[in-house]
Amino acid sequence: MNLLKVILICILFNVTNLLLAQDTTIDRKIDKLISQMTLEEKLGQISQVHVFDVPTTESAIRKGEVGSVLNAYSPEQVERFQNIATKESRLKIPLIIGRDVIHGFKTILPIPLAEAATWNPELVKKGAEVAAKEASSQGIKWTFAPMMDIARDPRWGRVAECLGEDPIMAGIMASSMVRGFQGKNEKWNIAACSKHFIGYGAAEGGRDYNTTLIPESELRNIYSVPFKYANDSNVYTVMSSFNDLNGIPASANKHTLNDILKGEWNFKGFVVTDWRTPCELPIHGYSETEKEAAEKCLNAGIDMEMVSNTFFNNAKTLIAEKKIDENLINEKVRRILKVKFELGLFNNPYTVPKTNALLLPENLKIAKELAIQSIVLLKNQNNILPLSNKTKIAIIGPMANAKLDQLGCWSPDGNPDDTQTPLMALNNDFSSNKPLFAEGAKSCISMDANGINEALATAKQADVILYFCGEDAKMSGEGHSRAFITLPGIQTELLTKLAKLGKPIVTIIMAGRPLDLNGIDTLSNAILYAWHPGTMGGPAISDILLGKSNPSGRLPMTFPRSVGQIPMYYNHRNTGRPAQLSDHDFVPTGTPLDPKDLSSSYIDISMKPMYPFGYGLSYSSFTYSNIELSSQNININGELIIKCTITNTGKVAGYETPQLYIHDKYASLTRPVKELKAFKKIAINAGESKTVEFKISTKDLGFYNNDNVFVIEPGTFDVWIGPNAVEGKMASFKITN
Ligand code: NOJ
Repeated sequence: MNLLKVILICILFNVTNLLLAQDTTIDRKIDKLISQMTLEEKLGQISQVHVFDVPTTESAIRKGEVGSVLNAYSPEQVERFQNIATKESRLKIPLIIGRDVIHGFKTILPIPLAEAATWNPELVKKGAEVAAKEASSQGIKWTFAPMMDIARDPRWGRVAECLGEDPIMAGIMASSMVRGFQGKNEKWNIAACSKHFIGYGAAEGGRDYNTTLIPESELRNIYSVPFKYANDSNVYTVMSSFNDLNGIPASANKHTLNDILKGEWNFKGFVVTDWRTPCELPIHGYSETEKEAAEKCLNAGIDMEMVSNTFFNNAKTLIAEKKIDENLINEKVRRILKVKFELGLFNNPYTVPKTNALLLPENLKIAKELAIQSIVLLKNQNNILPLSNKTKIAIIGPMANAKLDQLGCWSPDGNPDDTQTPLMALNNDFSSNKPLFAEGAKSCISMDANGINEALATAKQADVILYFCGEDAKMSGEGHSRAFITLPGIQTELLTKLAKLGKPIVTIIMAGRPLDLNGIDTLSNAILYAWHPGTMGGPAISDILLGKSNPSGRLPMTFPRSVGQIPMYYNHRNTGRPAQLSDHDFVPTGTPLDPKDLSSSYIDISMKPMYPFGYGLSYSSFTYSNIELSSQNININGELIIKCTITNTGKVAGYETPQLYIHDKYASLTRPVKELKAFKKIAINAGESKTVEFKISTKDLGFYNNDNVFVIEPGTFDVWIGPNAVEGKMASFKITN
């Protein structure tokens, strides 16, 4: 062993010892604190209060009866609360201040679904760092993000907040966000929160808060996967969800919270309820009283109650009645104190900073890059894009200058005055060739058609029409589900009339969900899907329109042709009579039915999605060739390397996102027709070829069976490397015993 190795081992040994020592010191401090606490103080630690009434909040903090405050509204207020907690309360335990910093704080990043569309986990991590730096500068040390609910129904308003329909993709993105928020730097790290545990995204009919029925194998194979990724990234907190899951409200579900999360996964942080969820148990019909609800949630594994106070009001009696054990409360307090220690709150109770950390140029730069990489080019007929800034453009539509709406849902701290809209950016970038402008409709939902004539008169004078449409921010997010996912208001009518002018139309859509683009697609020569892109959306869109940036976003959710096809997701099962993937809508054949029509299709609409999962165009074009496997047979503990050559056959450099899918052809449970297992985002110069290589192990090919056992079964697998879920180069291999 050479000297360098010896030195390295010694350093490693000392660092490990130091970390262990720190841990035991923290544990000792926690033991001491718990031994000094009254029951009221313990129940205070497991309570998060909302600042509805400042004097009441302050007095509770002074008595040591608050562990966390939700939505403190200014740095000065946070400082005051922390001062009361750490100087005036008996045990001087700092508070953990929580707030929904979902996609940025003041610098609003694209909505999380859009961030997923970047397929760029490192960039997403940088976005979370920006959010953490800004929020922590205001005293916020805990965000309720990332949300990683798997959603297969774009009617659900909260798809805007999720990370797409694929469990691994959502897991990778969630893990990036957790690492970004939690950082390593006590000065700006904030605790992340995996939410909503669990099954929330499977709400029946896409109606928020609705019932979910999910077989346990599906829960383990799909819905819990992103939470496991976040857990493996040491997420500090988890939020339980509002829904009932297979008849048991998720916040009172001992099996998922205690057995799976805290047991099997050994989750070390603490679990908070969602907003007043214990109070909803009687409404679900799962407990007679709030007291019984508190008992059920406490015993199921919840550690902290958000906003309501059923724990604080009832735990003392529940202990006296031996329905819960005081040690259970101690365990919860221990988890919460540990997070507070590890976040550095005991060393560093908050003081208002002297320097500004908000909206710094470097923050805006990351927000812009995220917006650029999240925009998906869905159509580009005759390569109408990119445009030259010599082209006379007419900017039309309600989203061209919608400072509030382009921020999207869940951006409570974003200030519309900081927003840079497409109109502002295009006016700047076309300064010597001033764009024409008419909004045409006052907002996305406006039914007032009075602006249409002006819009048409304006558009007539241009060479190309840029039509900015979509959804207002309030059309997605919590409690904002839609039964129809078409363009709202008069926007389709406006587009139809614009199309009659016979000029090329580039439609730029800003929305919080996949919309039904049937019709919009045929009326537009090009379509850019920009989601709700945040503060820097305008310059990002302008850069793409002008070709300063090459579009590289890819869809993280399938776009259906109609709500009637929902749920529509790429990783569905085959059935015994698979749907026919014709481009055309079927026509009823009359009786007797023609057996060829007896498939799992609709008779009145094609079974193809409008745009598949993983799809997105570029100003370059890419071809895939030479898929190669390291072997055609791997044993049950083996590994496989899959390679493919990708060539940029276009004229400009661009990013391509090769995606690796597999299909387990037969198994003891039927398996999805395709499952994403890995992806990469790579830059390829014009004319250049690159070989992309993926390594998967048989663990990536296993699944939970109906006995909830993870199995890797011998058999035949197809594997693809391709640009989306429906194209790609295919090969096959076998797992042998
Ligand atoms: C309810 C939402 O479901 C949750 O996601 C959010 O974090 C909390 N309210 C706190 O605002």
